[in-house]
Amino acid sequence: MKSLKLQKKVKGLSGVIEIPGDKSISHRSVMFGSIAYGETRVTNFLPGDDCLSTISCFRKLGVTIDESENGLRIVGKGFEGLKEPHEVLDVGNSGTTIRLLLGILAGRPFFSSLIGDSSIGKRPMTRVTVPLSEMGAQIDGRENGAYTPIAIRGGGLTPLHYQLPVASAQVKSAILLAGLQADGETTVVEPAETRDHTERMIRKFGGLIQKDQLIIKVKGGQKLKAASIHVPGDISSAAFFLVAGAIVPDSEIILKNVGLNPTRTGIIDVMKSMGAAMEIIQHDDCSFEPTGDIVINTSSLQGTVIEGDLIPKLIDEIPIIALLATQAEGKTVIKDAEELKVKETNRIDTVVNELKTLGANIEATDDGMIIYGKSNLRGGTVSSHGDHRIGMMLAIASLLCDGEVLLENPEAISVSYPNFFSHLNNLIQ
Ligand code: S3P
Repeated sequence: MKSLKLQKKVKGLSGVIEIPGDKSISHRSVMFGSIAYGETRVTNFLPGDDCLSTISCFRKLGVTIDESENGLRIVGKGFEGLKEPHEVLDVGNSGTTIRLLLGILAGRPFFSSLIGDSSIGKRPMTRVTVPLSEMGAQIDGRENGAYTPIAIRGGGLTPLHYQLPVASAQVKSAILLAGLQADGETTVVEPAETRDHTERMIRKFGGLIQKDQLIIKVKGGQKLKAASIHVPGDISSAAFFLVAGAIVPDSEIILKNVGLNPTRTGIIDVMKSMGAAMEIIQHDDCSFEPTGDIVINTSSLQGTVIEGDLIPKLIDEIPIIALLATQAEGKTVIKDAEELKVKETNRIDTVVNELKTLGANIEATDDGMIIYGKSNLRGGTVSSHGDHRIGMMLAIASLLCDGEVLLENPEAISVSYPNFFSHLNNLIQ
């Protein structure tokens, strides 16, 4: 395990960043390209480790996927074109890969086995294996199907009417992907709105899906047709530079081509409510996912409360929002966010412990955290704990630190943002 000496206390950040492709949409572009009929082309695909795991799994399922400078070319032959894999499907660190893939495999009449890294081995799978088993898939795994390794033999699915017990786009998507293969109409009811990239992809690939607020219905037996996908920049990656621009003195950063899907823009709402000096230039295109450019300047920030239905719209941004809150006046409370405990790490623990090491006044609660601002951050030895978003949050924190910051396990960052440090270094004045 490597460690990296981070840049401490900088004078300002300025410049323009082209935000890399969205991770959630990149995964789905490979999956939908593989289950549709025809040649799908994908541009601005995110070549992060997680999305590369998705490509590798679909190649093992017999799909031709070519990678070139111009993007991806995926030759789909429908769900029926997927073949029984000879090898174990390794999802690496990627929760989206394993949960959505299980939804696809639930309808396939063959045997597959799935593993991932040690973090995946701790993440709950019953949230997908229970509803997919109810639809008729045979699934087993460690601790009665709760954890990897998981084995699945699919086929012969019946439709399901399912009330999601947690607000999770991965679970919703797994059921919809299985529903596309079931004999009848499947309904998913969400407790709160989560990212809707799967629903948009189904439409983009020529499928029909109905959405009435929190109720989503999809019919089985639809044939999806290949599409051309341009993946927008990932707002979850942009988030690190949005916060950096707001908290580092004398900064102005322009973030280009950021995905602005309203199910993902919770961070923008929160930053604006805290007083961030931010301008959004919405693109006037007919893309299937809205995009825009964002200009962020150093800001004077106030604490806030983040809770309820807003949580799924910014769940991946909570680590960097916690850092933002250390630089706001007053108290910030994050609640209703128990889901943080089952991410790549327990993000309540990793955020609170690592920020405390750097001198933040922050405490964990059962369903979130409380941050008291404004704190002077000092140096120290911190770790990503193998979690990309914790690693990037700490790299941004170091820009304010008085002392040296040593980051253990920085390689984890390549899961979602392989060129993060080169983008950051280009901004430093
Ligand atoms: C994702 C959904 C979210 C998010 C993850 C990506 C997706 O997970 O945290 O990074 O692509 O559907 P949950 O569905 O577990 O909330």
